[in-house]
Amino acid sequence: MKGVILAGGTGTRLYPVTISTNKHLLPVYNKPMVYYPLSLMMLMEIRELVIVINPEDKSQFEGLLGDGSHLGMNITYAIQPAPNGLAGGLLSAKESVEGENICLILGDNILYGHDVLKILNEAKRYLEDHNGAYVFGYHVPDPERFGVVEFDERGNVLSIEEKPERPRSNFAVIGLYMYDRDVFEKISRIRPSERGELEITSLNEEYLKEGKLKVKLLGRGFAWFDVGTHDSFLEGSEFVGTVEKRTGLMIGCVEEIAYRNGWIDRKQLLRLAERLNKTDYGRYLQAIAEEEKDAI
Ligand code: DAU
Repeated sequence: MKGVILAGGTGTRLYPVTISTNKHLLPVYNKPMVYYPLSLMMLMEIRELVIVINPEDKSQFEGLLGDGSHLGMNITYAIQPAPNGLAGGLLSAKESVEGENICLILGDNILYGHDVLKILNEAKRYLEDHNGAYVFGYHVPDPERFGVVEFDERGNVLSIEEKPERPRSNFAVIGLYMYDRDVFEKISRIRPSERGELEITSLNEEYLKEGKLKVKLLGRGFAWFDVGTHDSFLEGSEFVGTVEKRTGLMIGCVEEIAYRNGWIDRKQLLRLAERLNKTDYGRYLQAIAEEEKDAI
């Protein structure tokens, strides 16, 4: 499975903050927003991934993440010439990921919970054995802000709609999707929505029409944030700060995951820590490098 992170778009809901800065590079508590989707990819052991970006942001992303080799990864960048929607963004990565199963994560989504790794790996394995798409539903009080999925009493998916005025359920489709290798053929069938975008929901509808859309509901034990508005941005930051301070463990710490995955050695972790040595982040990495290897 290869990964695609969408980090383009206009970020207008965060204006004026994002007039001249890409949203995904802003700090959510103590690290850039893009670290959160990146860390999910790493937890799923997806080592090869494409980050879809706007043309003007290339040097900033390269400055932050380079080619990923410092994390033992292979990161490349695909330019989305204009923000023509989420499925449009995925299409921009076609050249690098075609012919593989794909995990697509929106660059402004944060997902955290005890069982995250388990459910993501279940989905990944499901797609190794079945054709189709795999998405996740999350109960929210304001479904009209999201893609919304409707079920019958047996749990079969009846419909999936993008930001409906009258939502048919309270289950939002979160910004983490897994697709089989037919995904680009399906994107070629969809047409732009009224707002002129190739919607991810239209793509999911194509799978639904063929009876190939699997939806897993996330229960109460998960925290999911789409940090694309001022309020949700603040809530996401406070959540990360609260959990990290309470547990002494970081959320979305890409260097730690690379080390625990065995993708970088202790020497490299210390090198990365050294660069950040004036911060708690750097001291955290240093402490991990110094702990007994099998302590956690
Ligand atoms: O967060 C989950 C929701 O994300 C889903 O429930 C919706 O079905 C889905 O359409 C999406 O809705 P949003 O309105 O939140 O999408 P937004 O425009 O904020 O874009 C999501 C991410 O994708 C964001 O990190 C920017 C990036 N993006 C967006 C567009 C429109 C791109 O990379 N390229 C684009 O063209």
